[in-house]
Amino acid sequence: MSSGQVNKTLVKLIFQESVANYTVLDVGCGAGALSFIVAEKVQEVIGIDISKEAIAEAGKRSTGNTSFFVADADTADYTVLGEIDMIVSHLCMSDRIIENSGRALPKDGVFAFACFHAKHLIEGGRRSRFSYTEAEMRQVLGENGFTVEYLEVESKEFPFKDLAEAVEIIGEKNIRRWQNDGRLQSLENNISRGGRSLTKSILVGKARKK
Ligand SMILES: C[S@@+](CC[C@H](N)C(=O)[O-])C[C@H]1O[C@@H](n2cnc3c(N)ncnc32)[C@H](O)[C@@H]1O
Repeated sequence: MSSGQVNKTLVKLIFQESVANYTVLDVGCGAGALSFIVAEKVQEVIGIDISKEAIAEAGKRSTGNTSFFVADADTADYTVLGEIDMIVSHLCMSDRIIENSGRALPKDGVFAFACFHAKHLIEGGRRSRFSYTEAEMRQVLGENGFTVEYLEVESKEFPFKDLAEAVEIIGEKNIRRWQNDGRLQSLENNISRGGRSLTKSILVGKARKK
């Protein structure tokens, strides 16, 4: 993923903070799309991802103030990574990530994220298991000791002419999963009923540890 594809609101929310001396943890960092943007303005970025391949890719681009580790963000203890001032996440989210972030951040520490909203690609007939509604996100953040400072949905309709164009929007690499879990069939049904657009919907937020 190139840096151009990282949610711009998220980047703005991160850099609203006085980050110059910060150590920032990027959870589900992938190949480091967000990590490298953040690294330009902070002291240190630590990226973790469950995918060895993604971490190897990030490692190849690693700069003086970035380091990347294979770890399951749902089960890892983030405190073993050292003192973390801020936790960020771009398109990787779970209740456990929020819980672990709540434990690792100091008072006033920020958790900033962009994740799938419940309506993301809903034309496939069901929600992504990684998606949240605003109410769900507020609840989990509240339960884990955060005050929500920003929470907005960014949605955009992507029109298509036929299934081939729809597949391009969804991304060839995702389509096997769509085939296996029935979403492709639901999309085809949607198209046969006249549907000609896909909804991309992202929930962007910033929360501060109480
Ligand atoms: C959509 S990608 C986003 C990657 C990166 N943040 C970016 O914006 O380019 C989701 C990432 O989350 C990672 N991921 C999924 N579940 C994870 C988990 N339990 N622990 C750590 N990483 C996870 C995947 O391996 C993948 O790299």
